[in-house]
Amino acid sequence: MPQAATDRIFDRSGEPYGAPLNANLSATWILAGHDTSGTAMSIPREISICTRQDYNQILDELHEFWGARDTRHLHHPFLIHEFGNSAFVIRNGGEVVAYLFGFLSQTEPVGYVHTVAVRMSARRRGLAQQLFGHFVEFARRHGCKQVKAITTPSNLESIAFHKSLGMQLLGDPTSDGIPVVPDYAGRGAHRVVFWKAI
Ligand SMILES: CC(C)(COP(=O)(O)OP(=O)(O)OC[C@H]1O[C@@H](n2cnc3c(N)ncnc32)[C@H](O)[C@@H]1OP(=O)(O)O)[C@@H](O)C(=O)NCCC(=O)NCCS
Repeated sequence: MPQAATDRIFDRSGEPYGAPLNANLSATWILAGHDTSGTAMSIPREISICTRQDYNQILDELHEFWGARDTRHLHHPFLIHEFGNSAFVIRNGGEVVAYLFGFLSQTEPVGYVHTVAVRMSARRRGLAQQLFGHFVEFARRHGCKQVKAITTPSNLESIAFHKSLGMQLLGDPTSDGIPVVPDYAGRGAHRVVFWKAI
């Protein structure tokens, strides 16, 4: 199992994918966002490696990240066992509030974000963006030149999120204007494929 490790990084800055790791160790907690009552909330900005305990909690509480969608199949344990050094979480106390599971391609210099999710109660506070930036730095350190992700054409919030990162959409636009790569995930399973040079 990988050792638990932490890289602290800044809140959203001019750099779209975050500041260099360990740039300012005092910037561990930063005020960001509001809860539904409008009260300012303190969101942890510390990114850690996903432990087995975190992983179990994520699986136990998948509905808090994904709603009614059954995405258990997206959470294969190899993501923390064999690719555990690119499985990241943000915790609030003992609770995982956001996670990103990624890995590096063995066939091209590409970092692939397999899944990223944020608890519904912690959305729109930049947590996914921050995790993405952290993964991009990881990928860069390992020689990657691009970062890639995919999503289903119906996942409009995911499309909006990835577009906000400046990612390009591959493929040709469908009638509803969203570019998709036909059959990307198997026959009849079209996917939105995002790509960005890093
Ligand atoms: C997609 C998801 C990970 C985004 O997480 P998040 O922490 O809320 O996203 P961020 O706060 O980092 O958003 C960054 C930017 O992305 C865009 N964005 C994110 N969610 C959006 C939404 N629902 N609608 C429109 N734009 C959105 C915005 O431009 C946002 O910046 P802003 O808040 O300043 O306007 C989250 O909605 C989620 O967990 N969804 C369910 C799981 C999922 O579908 N994951 C993606 C496929 S693997």
